[in-house]
Amino acid sequence: MNATPPGWIRDGCSIAAMRLLAQAALPRPVFDFADGGAEDERTLRRNELAFDDVDFLPQPLRGAPTRDLSITLFGGTLNLPVIIGPTGLAGLLWPDGEVCAARAAHRAGTAYCLSHGSVCTLEALAETRVTPRWMQVFIYRDRGFTRELVERAAAAGYGALVLTIDNQILGSRERDIRNGFSIPPRPDLRSMMGLAGRLPWLWRMRGHLRHITFGNYVKPGDSAGIAKLAGRMPSLLDPAMSWADVDQLRMMWKGPLILKGVLSPAEAERAAKHGVDGLIVSNHGGRQLDGAVASFDILPRIRDAVPENVELLFDGGVRRGADVVKALAMGARACLIGRPQLWGLAVAGEQGVAHVLEIYRREIDRVMGLCGISRITDIGPDLLVRRK
Ligand SMILES: Cc1cc2nc3c(=O)[nH]c(=O)nc-3n(C[C@H](O)[C@H](O)[C@H](O)COP(=O)(O)O)c2cc1C
Repeated sequence: MNATPPGWIRDGCSIAAMRLLAQAALPRPVFDFADGGAEDERTLRRNELAFDDVDFLPQPLRGAPTRDLSITLFGGTLNLPVIIGPTGLAGLLWPDGEVCAARAAHRAGTAYCLSHGSVCTLEALAETRVTPRWMQVFIYRDRGFTRELVERAAAAGYGALVLTIDNQILGSRERDIRNGFSIPPRPDLRSMMGLAGRLPWLWRMRGHLRHITFGNYVKPGDSAGIAKLAGRMPSLLDPAMSWADVDQLRMMWKGPLILKGVLSPAEAERAAKHGVDGLIVSNHGGRQLDGAVASFDILPRIRDAVPENVELLFDGGVRRGADVVKALAMGARACLIGRPQLWGLAVAGEQGVAHVLEIYRREIDRVMGLCGISRITDIGPDLLVRRK
């Protein structure tokens, strides 16, 4: 389902402005679920602020008339170094939210990563045939279920597998607690306050709300009831996962294997030795361990720790094309975005996400032009100076 975006978002507005539009469109508990972080939200804030510690050192005299924003990744080409990261329950923000966001990514020529906790099943997304398409999983106490998900992702033709390692114990998202919002959300959506003024969202979601569930967890023949899944979910994940699990996944999955949630240079170095193809330097957007280092602050040390053949991806607080260019200069191949694509989704479904990606594209292009850079591969550490 699509919508015509409000006139003034067509010609460009900032990601921050999209956030405000999303806030106005969503009931408060839903907005806070997507927007919030763990505890005091220090890591969430620090993720965004860390980019301010470096400035550009432009060389306009080496400029070119046009810029090429494409990158190569796992043997393919993306038109843009911005990928849509996995975010659970995107279908709560817009009907068929995951499908809408994946279509927007496809149109922009970039990759979409489906969350374990998507409302639609991984097979339903695969039926749309949008590519590149990645699948994110966890390590479950029942390793048979991990295997099952991996096999389903392979059968459905997903191009890469993302193992998230920083979510085995759920962070304390205090906005959700205050709002009475639980993950998964309570089936009784009357508990959601603040619906006044959000009637378009309610109207749009009217046939969908009772189907909101974690699609990938519903066994054939089971009721899809989110209440049942709600009780089971926290006990499914295994906090005692280990490198042996990474090895198991490596054996099961033939395509690119990516670890998400890596912050320690030592862990990054070790991952390379376990045959992992890519790492996502990430603190889950500050939603898990509050006080964890900002992704941008640790990125250079991780770059130094891993061999060149391990693709380094990055997420956390990327709100401007300039942030993307800074992360690339510090050694990332591409950035993932979490919240910004959800804000786009909340504002105008597929069109809103397309618009968000277009904002990044234009901003990256402008920054590169102003810095005198014509190709992404020319972005290096010499582009930045660190503030005293
Ligand atoms: C609402 C929401 C749900 C998320 N769900 C998942 C998830 O299911 N799996 C996962 O690996 N990361 C999940 N994340 C984390 C994102 O993939 C990403 O690491 C983070 O949002 C990046 O930070 P940013 O939001 O500042 O871009 C979620 C993030 C948000 C905001």
